Amino acid sequence: VIETCAASRYLAAGRETELFRRAYERKVPVMLLGPTGCGKTRFVEHMAGELRRPLVTITCHDDLTTADLVGRHLIRGGDVEWRDGPLTAAVRRGAICYLDEIVEARPDTLAMLHSLADHRRALYLERLGEELVAPHDFMLVASYNPRPGTSVKELKPALRQRFATIRLDYLPADQEAGVVAAESGAPVPIARRLVECAAVLRAAAERDPYTRFDPPSTRSIVAAAAVIAGGTPLDDAVEAFLVAPLTTDPAVTHAIRAVVAAALPGNGERPADGPNR
Ligand SMILES: Nc1ncnc2c1ncn2[C@@H]1O[C@H](COP(=O)(O)OP(=O)(O)OP(=O)(O)O)[C@@H](O)[C@H]1O
Ligand SMILES: [Mg+2]
Repeated sequence: VIETCAASRYLAAGRETELFRRAYERKVPVMLLGPTGCGKTRFVEHMAGELRRPLVTITCHDDLTTADLVGRHLIRGGDVEWRDGPLTAAVRRGAICYLDEIVEARPDTLAMLHSLADHRRALYLERLGEELVAPHDFMLVASYNPRPGTSVKELKPALRQRFATIRLDYLPADQEAGVVAAESGAPVPIARRLVECAAVLRAAAERDPYTRFDPPSTRSIVAAAAVIAGGTPLDDAVEAFLVAPLTTDPAVTHAIRAVVAAALPGNGERPADGPNR
């Protein structure tokens, strides 16, 4: 469980800020869909700051139980004492509760979210025989990365349809380059070159379903730009963050390198103004 409060820098690509705000006002939970590293977590952090609500992030995994979320009785020096789980605590405080990677949780664990995610806004604490109705300020947010055509899990419709869905994607090139430069401290021309390279890889990943790989995310570009700002040669940064992490298949890596070489001609040379300024 991670707790954050500070407002985060977030550049909106569309109307997601407005949609989120409206959902918050209407007490509708929000589901964020989008590829890895496109800004889902950053967006939620930003909105929590904007709405001045504490943010409780729960990273879902398949060992997560209802008790992990809701709470359990603990034995303390001979006494039995109830301890709220992070979800219950978030409801009581009127926080924004963010269930990251919600598909990773088992359906039987997620089933108890149904009453909280619809008009009832209630969490049933079975062990306490208590029904906790969420205060006005409480909001449920969840996210995952749907990958149709792969073996990645999906949510049950009964849960998915209780949420208002906002789709996020990588920013348009100009804006992405701006974010990369601001986040990494690298000069804008470097950020632009990296974004261009990522764009070519994203197009290639979409074009060629047989060599399926997940193209580089904004996070990877920021990481590459940051090490370049720190003095790493462009080539090495591109290899480490934009090429090597995409697949473990040597043949596909080879093909990706060829795509990158075509996208970044003269990649071996440094740009005239040097990468460190
Ligand atoms: N719109 C944006 N505004 C500002 N920064 C962004 C934006 N999109 C991406 N970033 C940058 O990309 C990084 C990764 O974004 P974030 O962690 O929010 O991705 P994510 O969608 O939650 O990924 P994952 O699904 O892997 O958890 C951020 O730390 C930030 O540096
Ligand atoms: Mg995230």
